[in-house]
Amino acid sequence: MEKTFRIAPSILSANFAELGQEITDVITSGADIVHFDVMDNHYVPNLTIGPLVCEAIRPVTDAIIDVHLMIEPVDRIIPDFAKAGANIITFHPEASNHIDRSLSMVRDLGCKSGLVFNPATSLDYLDHVMDKIDMVLLMSVNPGFGGQKFIPETLNKLRLARKKIDQYMEKTGREIWLEVDGGVNADNITEIAQAGADTFVAGSAVFGAANDNDPNKYDSIIGSLRASLAKA
Ligand code: DX5
Ligand code: ZN
Repeated sequence: MEKTFRIAPSILSANFAELGQEITDVITSGADIVHFDVMDNHYVPNLTIGPLVCEAIRPVTDAIIDVHLMIEPVDRIIPDFAKAGANIITFHPEASNHIDRSLSMVRDLGCKSGLVFNPATSLDYLDHVMDKIDMVLLMSVNPGFGGQKFIPETLNKLRLARKKIDQYMEKTGREIWLEVDGGVNADNITEIAQAGADTFVAGSAVFGAANDNDPNKYDSIIGSLRASLAKA
């Protein structure tokens, strides 16, 4: 059976002065998901965007908005993102005192829920909450900044996560996506897919590839990511 691969450009590397157009352009070029990085200068040493910006871009696209919370704590802000039109909300288990409760909160508000694993965070956090998870996100860099280098150990972790998810899917018939985030590009995406990821965040690789004057400026980078995925 043909595998489904989803490409999720991280708008962290987009031109924020033209954010709506940037989103329209990447989706028109064939990207599937808008990856939305939220940082609080507390859980990670950087500060980005919040629910206001999510609300502002919601009318621009029908694509899934995948909100990655790098903030602590998470419960106070989850409802704001649900209201702002997020489709998926993921958070880091270390950033919630009550992981099960936070996951339930996301689901109760009508969004898909997920946990994010830093490079050194154990997948054990999944064990007792699989029923409440729609997406597992493995960080392949330490969170906080775009443009970092892919950490190769992530490939082993992806294989482990893939196994856990496949076992769960076999047992329950319910689908869980496996997303990878950080340092993904057209040169390494084939082996990342072979290790088990089905959803690929790419920030600098996508938005850094643009030529300002080209109206179809993201066709070629999204095309080469897809071509590399076809080899997986
Ligand atoms: C890092 C963010 C990533 C980042 C990816 O903390 O979660 O989504 O923007 O950017 P690249 O693809 O440049 O590593
Ligand atoms: Zn992210």
